Amino acid sequence: MIGINVGEYRIVEKVGQGGMGSVYKAVHTTLEQIVAIKVLSSEFSDNPSMRSRFINEARIQAKFKHPNVVNVLNFFEIDEKAFLVMEFIEGETLEKILQRKGKLQIEEALDISYSVLNALVFMHSKGVIHRDVKPANIMFTRDNVVKVADFGIAKSVNEKTKHTKTGLLGSVMYLTPEQILGEQTSAATDVYSFGITLYKMLTGRTPFSNKTEFEIMKSHLEEDPTSPNEYNDYISKSLNKVILKSIAKDPKDRFSSASEFSQKLRSSKKENFRLDINMPDLAPIFDSFGLFIKRNMKKFIILFIIIIVIAMYKFFPNLSLIYLSIKEYFIKLYLEIFFG
Ligand SMILES: Nc1ncnc2c1ncn2[C@@H]1O[C@H](COP(=O)(O)OP(=O)(O)O)[C@@H](O)[C@H]1O
Ligand SMILES: [Mg+2]
Repeated sequence: MIGINVGEYRIVEKVGQGGMGSVYKAVHTTLEQIVAIKVLSSEFSDNPSMRSRFINEARIQAKFKHPNVVNVLNFFEIDEKAFLVMEFIEGETLEKILQRKGKLQIEEALDISYSVLNALVFMHSKGVIHRDVKPANIMFTRDNVVKVADFGIAKSVNEKTKHTKTGLLGSVMYLTPEQILGEQTSAATDVYSFGITLYKMLTGRTPFSNKTEFEIMKSHLEEDPTSPNEYNDYISKSLNKVILKSIAKDPKDRFSSASEFSQKLRSSKKENFRLDINMPDLAPIFDSFGLFIKRNMKKFIILFIIIIVIAMYKFFPNLSLIYLSIKEYFIKLYLEIFFG
């Protein structure tokens, strides 16, 4: 594909591979605009219902623009291959960042969350459910602007192929109980998948992992997730509660909307610092001081004991005499017991 022209674009390089097909960096031959082109696999063109659903979703995405949503710019078909043209996102995906860093700082994870949830609130208000929220679909521009990709698209194409495709294990981690059961999806579906994404950002792991695809799906349906604060001390009780609520098994037990999820995250942050909202600048200082003490507790206890011992010797010099007489008593006792 590299170097060849498709329609008005010249393919420059391959940038990724997903369940639906390959993604290429391309350049418009006259305007020189850099774009990303997703080339859809032949399975797609062979299946008329998949094809029409996909085109419908692409149409919706092209219609609604939001600063935190990857723009769809064009769509065309050549020789039974379909090409979806999107704005090219220069930076990394959240998946790559997590692979590199393990987990993120609370502040950083919350900032990303607000942007992703803004995108979800906007698209939900237009009646579009993402259905495949996961770190691989959250990207960052060079200026660190969050862009959510594949709104409504991935799952409309993948639904029937998800068990035969390789590399879908990544998606299974973020799959919702209602999708596993083949039930109706709603805004709460994206709340769950983003809840798992947030869990991963804060703990470096998904709640149900290291198992087979079947076991992961079973866990989504039946297993209670481990509280995220067991993997990360920095997660406050209120933040922990918000995460657990977002990944409740029953969609009715989750936040009813992405905006409620976002609001609860914001208020959990305030509780996290446990300080008056009038002094927000001091809050992080107090918070990190508290964490510093917590992390170095053992050292503080040892230091405290040393200070107490030194103070006792300094202020009660007679203490050394008491110590010596106790020692003498024990030596006597020892001699009596063993040598009569
Ligand atoms: N608009 C884009 N700009 C730059 N890179 C992209 C874009 N869309 C997708 N990619 C890259 O291609 C990879 C595959 O994308 P995709 O086919 O959507 O599969 P998935 O989302 O399952 O990883 C992504 O992980 C990302 O690295
Ligand atoms: Mg994607």
